[in-house]
Amino acid sequence: MAHQWRGVIREYFDRLDVDASTPIITLGEGGTPLVEAPALAKLVGAEEVWLKVEGMNPTGSFKDRGMTMAVSKAVGHGAKAVICASTGNTSASAAAYAAAAGIQSVVLVPEGKIALGKLSQAVAHKAQILQVQGNFDDCLDLARALSENYPVHLVNSVNPDRIEGQKTAAFEVIERLGYAPDIHVLPVGNAGNYSAYFKGYLEDFNAGVIKTVPKMWGFQADGSAPFVYGTPVKNPDTIATAIRIGNPASYELALSARECSLGEFGSVLDSEILWMHRFLSQEVGVFVEPSSATGAAGLLKNARAGKVPAGSKIVVTVTGHGLKDALWALKDENGNEIQPQSVSNRAEEVAERLGLA
Ligand code: F0G
Repeated sequence: MAHQWRGVIREYFDRLDVDASTPIITLGEGGTPLVEAPALAKLVGAEEVWLKVEGMNPTGSFKDRGMTMAVSKAVGHGAKAVICASTGNTSASAAAYAAAAGIQSVVLVPEGKIALGKLSQAVAHKAQILQVQGNFDDCLDLARALSENYPVHLVNSVNPDRIEGQKTAAFEVIERLGYAPDIHVLPVGNAGNYSAYFKGYLEDFNAGVIKTVPKMWGFQADGSAPFVYGTPVKNPDTIATAIRIGNPASYELALSARECSLGEFGSVLDSEILWMHRFLSQEVGVFVEPSSATGAAGLLKNARAGKVPAGSKIVVTVTGHGLKDALWALKDENGNEIQPQSVSNRAEEVAERLGLA
């Protein structure tokens, strides 16, 4: 019988902070495709570019890798409810894993600033949702305060169980390629995922599985780039709502990952994000949410600045599925709505419209 992927806790049991008494709450997360993207490699002048397609996780984003750990450990500690602040994906994931565990989820989201697909996921999984009059950073302050003073377990990435689970993506990259890439590129919000990949690579390096660690390149949206400015951003602003974060939770962790990996942080304009969002859909065949195109947009920016050595092997994590924030695909380069043309059911007319006749 073909091997069925068992979720990251069972697949990496010996490499995670779990033991036989840990209840395993899983939806089969991880084991996502690493897709070669020759069109992107050509565009940036690299030998190989691979996309780690995290939209293929059960709730459509990389958050599931960390959430299986966080919710399993929470249940192991007897938690009856979990809480998170979120720009959308964490809440979708927390709600789904809480549903699987039979416990309550509480999610705090910035009012009017989360994509419809993500909100509908949290509703579908019966989370208690509150829209906070503020941004993500305000939501996280609130979630921390509530978890410290009330019986709810925090499942944001300030919880180290989340980072533990998310590091498994680096293990998968190495297993698939047989080597570490020269550069690993990611979109950055709280920088939990950036830090988690580095942790995974470092563990494999220390175990002698790989001979080098990749340079970690993290990209933010220009209006929301505290790592680039070196200071928190009070009113972060970008169309990439998933990474609309001004005060990253994993700031120190990520700075040390950058230093150890000889990596860097950069930022890109919303227009560059949307351009790359379209390129990935049209030229690579991978539909991601706009925020998820931020890494690849940054890679292109660095390539144009001459920072991508010929012969480089690069992995870019695309973090969330395009269907979560689908409306961006229905706009053209100028922001005009795209409406498929209406036709009759006569073959001659349709052929003519299609330019076949
Ligand atoms: N890409 C997507 C699609 C995200 O949802 C997030 C974070 C990131 C990238 C950045 O990851 O925070 O680890 O640097 N989303 C969080 C949320 C904040 O609430 O869903 P990070």
